[in-house]
Amino acid sequence: MTAVELIEKKRDGDTLTANEIRWLIDAYTKGVVKDYQMAAMTMAVFLNGLTAEELAVWTDAMMHSGDVLDLDMIAKPKVDKHSTGGVGDKVSIPLVPMVAACGVAIPMISGRGLGHTGGTLDKLESIPGFTTNLDRERFTSILEQYGLVLAGQSKSLVPADRKLYALRDSTGTVPSIPLISSSIMSKKLAEDLDGLVLDVKVGIGAFMKDEASARTLAKTMVGIGSAHGTTTVAYLTRMDEPLGLEVGNASEIIESIAVLRGDGPADLTEVTMVLAAEMLVLGGIEGSLETANKRLAQVIASGEALELFGQVIEAQGGNRDVIDDPSLLPKASHRFEVKAPASGYVRAVNALAVGRAAMSLGAGRETKDQKVDPGVGITLHAKTGDSVEQGAPLATLAFNDHDRVEAALALLREAWEIGEALTPQELIIDRIDG
Ligand code: URA
Repeated sequence: MTAVELIEKKRDGDTLTANEIRWLIDAYTKGVVKDYQMAAMTMAVFLNGLTAEELAVWTDAMMHSGDVLDLDMIAKPKVDKHSTGGVGDKVSIPLVPMVAACGVAIPMISGRGLGHTGGTLDKLESIPGFTTNLDRERFTSILEQYGLVLAGQSKSLVPADRKLYALRDSTGTVPSIPLISSSIMSKKLAEDLDGLVLDVKVGIGAFMKDEASARTLAKTMVGIGSAHGTTTVAYLTRMDEPLGLEVGNASEIIESIAVLRGDGPADLTEVTMVLAAEMLVLGGIEGSLETANKRLAQVIASGEALELFGQVIEAQGGNRDVIDDPSLLPKASHRFEVKAPASGYVRAVNALAVGRAAMSLGAGRETKDQKVDPGVGITLHAKTGDSVEQGAPLATLAFNDHDRVEAALALLREAWEIGEALTPQELIIDRIDG
């Protein structure tokens, strides 16, 4: 077998065999197939797609390109959640302790923020001392003891994706449904799960801008999960405006704690509850979404979910006192308010603009090696459907570096659309299962 033969086959619209795909992914991971050859192959896939059979094998070969977790020692059902990424999307942080407090184990492996979207790891690492860099032993022992663990991806998990994603990023082949879905699902399936809930974001602040492509991505990932024998359910949720009121890192931890106290913003709480309830049903802990919601409300009201979050913060080296004393989290030194230019109703808050503004303040990173500034961010005071008076605050910027403010302000001044009243669209667009 040679890489050229396989590239030509895919280029000409033929179907690759399972053996060919397994050889290709393995040879690429080992460096036998070169980056320039894989670049040609991914472009052929970008243009001609993969059949469902090809995609199942491609994903499986990527998943097995490195270590896969073996979590047989965990007696509880293992379910994870993945979001395709958005602005202010801190759902995983309150969701994980809520679901774990109900008896589902969550071996959560998250990513960092890149571009205008934030990353769970960056948010968690704003907690003083908290580490997401866990070796295998510590990962499983925290999971066994608390039923949850919040970690970053080790180098040995799905190495094929590490190479392939960097290659796609520099060759214009990221926005391909088969390549995105195999990239996401290979990493999730390597976690040895019984079930998976996907939050596929749709809208201006999301990867998928329109509902049709988000639906195709969701169906494709659900199909891969089913083919692998892991029950997978996807939700399409709206990402036209940021989720919650905080966009940053430390500030998103504070807002996550508010959700765990039953005191979070309505939109963030709604998405968290819907996905968490689905995880309880997938894990077989509850028989219906209704009873699952009741159970989740109980672990919030009793404080069990918040207590568990405190325990896991401590187990991962962090200062659990942040739960009661947010002043222990990093805080930016300066504030600036953006005021409403006119009276009326908020018709839109552009999530992409707010995400880019937060990134330009230092809350996110444009390249993988940049460091985030954990205390900076944007607090929203008016969201879609709210009425505002001219001169009232729309947002507060928290920043450390005056040189970064102008760029953020330029983005934010265009982010709010104010005019006639409107009814905001529903947040949960659809549920897709196998
Ligand atoms: N997230 C991933 O993990 N992979 C992609 O290809 C796109 C988003």
